Amino acid sequence: MTKTRIAVAGAGYIGLAHMGVIQSSPTCMLSAIVDPSPAAVDIAAKAGVPLYRSLDELFGKDRPDGVVLATPNQLHVEHALKCIEAGVPMLLEKPVAPTVEEAETLVKEAERTGAKILIGHHRAHSPIMARAKQLIDEGRLGKLVAVMGSAVFFKPDHYFADAPWRKEPGAGPILLNMIHEVHNLRMLCGDIVAVQAFASQATRGFPVEDTVAINLRFAGGALGTFMLSDTAASARSWEQTSQENKAYATYPDEDCYVIAGTFGSLSVPTMRLKTYGRAEDRSWWKPFDVSVADVTRDDPLKHQIEHFGCVVRGEAEPIVSARDGLQNLRITEAIVEAARTGSIVDTTPV
Ligand SMILES: NC(=O)c1ccc[n+]([C@@H]2O[C@H](COP(=O)([O-])OP(=O)(O)OC[C@H]3O[C@@H](n4cnc5c(N)ncnc54)[C@H](O)[C@@H]3O)[C@@H](O)[C@H]2O)c1
Repeated sequence: MTKTRIAVAGAGYIGLAHMGVIQSSPTCMLSAIVDPSPAAVDIAAKAGVPLYRSLDELFGKDRPDGVVLATPNQLHVEHALKCIEAGVPMLLEKPVAPTVEEAETLVKEAERTGAKILIGHHRAHSPIMARAKQLIDEGRLGKLVAVMGSAVFFKPDHYFADAPWRKEPGAGPILLNMIHEVHNLRMLCGDIVAVQAFASQATRGFPVEDTVAINLRFAGGALGTFMLSDTAASARSWEQTSQENKAYATYPDEDCYVIAGTFGSLSVPTMRLKTYGRAEDRSWWKPFDVSVADVTRDDPLKHQIEHFGCVVRGEAEPIVSARDGLQNLRITEAIVEAARTGSIVDTTPV
């Protein structure tokens, strides 16, 4: 089989991770790097691929089968529009754009032209998420009622000292971290139609929030609560429980989500199930059937690039579309707005 040729634009933190999974893919190969930074010269030489300083230069000389856009957020729309114009499918890193307004422009253009865009919400490709979704879709939990989630972790002080913009509005755990949780929750529990939030900066004292308590209303009627903090020393985050990113210490006794329905609950990512087999057995005085759903943990970035290869070759539709990316951004911005105003913000998809 001829390998699918993929160029990576932006050879920074996540771009390097994309390059790694492309280089070890059985179906895709790295065709080029696009990055104007001097550091990219060595990176391209080590990878043994041509380096281009811009997408215009790349498309002037070569036409890869697909492009990974791992460039800074402010460049996402400009770069995505260039790929659309060149007719090249793209894996565009999250967030789809820095603002909802810009994201809407991109989604309209993508839908008008039928461009192939996969948004890099990589956890959508996690085997844990796939298994959890399967159990929920099979009805093992009954009708969903309550969702309890957390992303409660401690970012080291130097994270803020190294890049002072991280202390300012525009950064903060809602915009930087919550967008991943929003996609996970939508994937498992359906669309989020309203949000409410309390935010606090009482611990770090920065202009941006450090801790947020969020209420969520799902389209199917379930309600959710979500605790978010970059300042509370806890392991209750996807990163510290899923065992997917080896950069993080992980704790197999902790969960970050508990999803409860009329027949049982699922704790994610330990995959502990507590269910009632028969409707008449449902009572808090009766024991649950207790089990652990099997799952093979694996790197979602690897699965994401294989899926992108399928999208490029026309074998699959993107499982995270540009419109999904827009909706994730809308909900994330709505949480910021809800915390700022103290109001309930409607997030019904348009
Ligand atoms: N999916 C995830 O979990 C995840 C994790 C981290 C970052 N991201 C996203 O990935 C994107 C990149 O983040 P990062 O942390 O890797 O940033 P980074 O600063 O480490 O890397 C960005 C790279 O883009 C390059 N660049 C700048 N201008 C360019 C241009 N015009 N053309 C090509 N390359 C250019 C820079 O030189 C740099 O190498 C952001 O959108 C971020 O939100 C996603």
